[in-house]
Amino acid sequence: MSTDSLPVELKYWPIKRYMDTYKKSVDNIEEFWEQEARKLDWFSTWDRVLDWDIPFAKWFPGGMLNASYLCVDKHLKNWRRNKVAIYWVGEDGEEKTLSYLQLHKEVNKLAAALQEMGVKDGDRVAFYLPMIVELPIAMLACARLGAIHTVVFSGFSSQALADRINHTEANVVITADGGFRRGKIIELKSIVDDAVKDTPSVKKVLVVKRTGHDIEMQEGRDVWYHDVVRHQEKTVPPLPVESTHPLFILYTSGTTGKPKGIVHSTGGYLVYINSVYRTVFNIQEDSVYWCNADIGWVTGHSFIVYAPLLNGASIVMYEGAPDYPTPDRWWQIIEDYKITTLYTSPTAIRMFMALGEKWVKKHDLSSLSILGSVGEPINPEAWMWYFKNIGGERCPIVDTWWQTETGGIMISPAPGIGLVPLKPGSATFPLPGIDVDVVDENGKPVPDGVRGYIIIKKPWPGMALTVYKDPARFKETYWTRFPGAYYAGDYCMRDDDGYLWLLGRADEVLKVAGHRLGTVELESAMVSHPSVAEAAVASKPHEIKGESIVVFAVLKEGISPSDELAKELRTHMRNTVGPFATPENIYFVTKLPKTRSGKIMRRVLKALVAGQSIGDISTLEDKASVEEAKQAFEEFQRLTKK
Ligand code: WT7
Repeated sequence: MSTDSLPVELKYWPIKRYMDTYKKSVDNIEEFWEQEARKLDWFSTWDRVLDWDIPFAKWFPGGMLNASYLCVDKHLKNWRRNKVAIYWVGEDGEEKTLSYLQLHKEVNKLAAALQEMGVKDGDRVAFYLPMIVELPIAMLACARLGAIHTVVFSGFSSQALADRINHTEANVVITADGGFRRGKIIELKSIVDDAVKDTPSVKKVLVVKRTGHDIEMQEGRDVWYHDVVRHQEKTVPPLPVESTHPLFILYTSGTTGKPKGIVHSTGGYLVYINSVYRTVFNIQEDSVYWCNADIGWVTGHSFIVYAPLLNGASIVMYEGAPDYPTPDRWWQIIEDYKITTLYTSPTAIRMFMALGEKWVKKHDLSSLSILGSVGEPINPEAWMWYFKNIGGERCPIVDTWWQTETGGIMISPAPGIGLVPLKPGSATFPLPGIDVDVVDENGKPVPDGVRGYIIIKKPWPGMALTVYKDPARFKETYWTRFPGAYYAGDYCMRDDDGYLWLLGRADEVLKVAGHRLGTVELESAMVSHPSVAEAAVASKPHEIKGESIVVFAVLKEGISPSDELAKELRTHMRNTVGPFATPENIYFVTKLPKTRSGKIMRRVLKALVAGQSIGDISTLEDKASVEEAKQAFEEFQRLTKK
């Protein structure tokens, strides 16, 4: 689509101006990032900008800072002391407002309580919380002490939670009695109880009272949050940590094995997200900013908590489901709080598209000025719908491409420095300081219009420090395929105007409603069921969720396929990984298509379920298995169409 068709009067920058600014930044990245680093208040300045021992980067070594200080204390020194930091909206209608001063008090009380529990510099603390104010408070309290938080999305199963607690050897878990979702209570505490049966490192479970319903508290281990913070009066000085001190660990799925614990630094990470937040969202003193991701994912870490608070912004946090109690809940919140900046996902946009415009039309959304999208490719139809119906053809859409590993946004329109003309579905250009290319299998740049892999050619401050406890995996996964460059795992195409189009994962990672899931991880969850011998997972295009999960399963000897079993397997997936990992379809087959060396050809299954041509299968061991999978799939389609 050409930009001429955009019915807007957006103030665009000439592309040349963007290019000049950009080029200057990537020609001398150290100079550029040093200038960005000066925008934060450090306790002491760095010795050097960068130590680059590929693939391990130390940004601003020697520099000392504290994330909690920068996000909270710093703002108490000026008028922002009484500025609203957080507007919180509970699903049940309860609302809370915290000024920076109040946030400071809460953070200090909890930091003091954690200190009393023995939490100290370098310790890991695991979180399993709904979207309530105690979540950012607790992150900042940990950061204040130099403790490393690991937030586990509260949709994960007890087993996934236990794995993460064990891997980090966290000694404290912070949770809540429950959370509200579509009017129902999610039993978070009992999931934690299950998880901590097998986590020897855990000494204390801190429980926030949110729902107030009856839960079990284990004497000696479980303590109420309100009890431990109540008597805290002292302020806890923020601990200056080195720039390379880990701020958090966040698990994410890859192509092989268990999820990886991505470790982010304090200095490089904060410099990076502070810089890109201003560049992309053009945040002003009176902006009211709402990112409605869950803090359990990286988007929430970087763009609900750290970057907005570093900037002294007012943020909105909403606890519940987007369409509860009515499909206009979000639009109501925007109208109420006069939100200026909305950051959401293509899945949410497509969901609202399906619900129809009438819910949007009931509300005055004229306060909005910038709209963001993240998590998966946005299709031009959804982009246009968002642009017209939510943005009133007034607001630029910033389609922001990035990953858990990159810490912050890498490719996006940048209204904060100058907006280039937009093309629906393209994330446009890399941000200053980010040197990207699109290459073929051999690392050679591909011509414009040809699909290749997106790579990043120079280090950037937001890049992960490593994979927790597995630096070799960090190197192998991201820095080996194209020597000297970061391999992101996404397909990309550059068009004739130089715009980048991110085209989805090039590896065996799925994006279901923006959630990142590894095929191998899903397959091992599937075969952990006693009836399943082998399983292959593929994704299928889905109108709202982008992709959905399809499983081909080989059952054990003597087990016969049935609808009940399919149902049971679905429940099994919910319980072992989480509700968002529920397969859309399960097909029973007697064999899986494999290569001669025994690798499952997921590509074949993916093409099959997408109705595409299967392509080259000359390396297949058994062509009959493809035929069989095809039949199982067609049979199912026949049955479900009836
Ligand atoms: C993967 C990273 C980025 C924070 C939330 C997800 C996909 C993300 C876009 C976008 C096309 C996108 C990529 C990427 N992705 N944003 N704007 N356009 N694809 O973080 O869970 O680490 O997932 O999300 O495939 O590799 P994540």
